[in-house]
Amino acid sequence: MTEEIEKYKIIFLGDQGVGKSSILNRFSEDKFEQEYQATIGLDFHSKNITIKGVNIRLLLYDTAGQEKFKSLIPMYIRDANIIIIVYDIANKDSFINTNHWIKETKDLKRDDAIFVLIGNKIDLNDNREISFEEGEKFAKDKNFIFYEVSARSGEGIQNLFNNYIFPLMAKKFSIGNDDDDKNYHADDERNEGNVKLKKQQKKKKSCCGKGKK
Ligand code: GTP
Ligand code: MG
Repeated sequence: MTEEIEKYKIIFLGDQGVGKSSILNRFSEDKFEQEYQATIGLDFHSKNITIKGVNIRLLLYDTAGQEKFKSLIPMYIRDANIIIIVYDIANKDSFINTNHWIKETKDLKRDDAIFVLIGNKIDLNDNREISFEEGEKFAKDKNFIFYEVSARSGEGIQNLFNNYIFPLMAKKFSIGNDDDDKNYHADDERNEGNVKLKKQQKKKKSCCGKGKK
């Protein structure tokens, strides 16, 4: 008899060229490509991980930032468990445009999902247009996990997943034994429906990672 594996869907949203595919490639295969190859429509990957001893399959949906594909995306947001919105720290417009996806997730009433805001390309710090503090405050106001990374150097990416996203998944989706999660950093206010999580909400509240400045 084959054991059922738990599956969780992660969707990557954000403007064209912010580095969604690059973050995903770094996360799933630890590789980076300098040459820009725009995603057409939507790319799909999967990655097996273990959270608290439980085997999990992450289904990773890499959306295209190009305007012409925008109308396809809401149907994938609808059943995503984790919604990751990416901007480029050296491109202010890409930060402003995260509002489009935030509104879309609100319209689709996705308050039950885990939300993450990523400022990518911190290797381009000299050309930075959005400060760490601005990104962090924006995310905190919206109760998002916030992290800055570089898909190019790999900085921050494994840390974001291992120390923030996976622990929050364990809590929010009640993965594994929830007695030993005292080390988890991220907290979350979108838990009202879950009794187990309610008990844990007494812990200090902090939404934001310490991405590199
Ligand atoms: P679409 O598929 O068109 O929506 O773009 P995308 O968001 O998937 O961007 P992609 O990952 O294709 O990256 C766009 C360009 O940015 C590529 O040339 C990448 O090499 C580059 N890039 C991605 N991440 C980084 C980074 O952390 N630092 C630097 N310097 N360049 C990056
Ligand atoms: Mg892409």
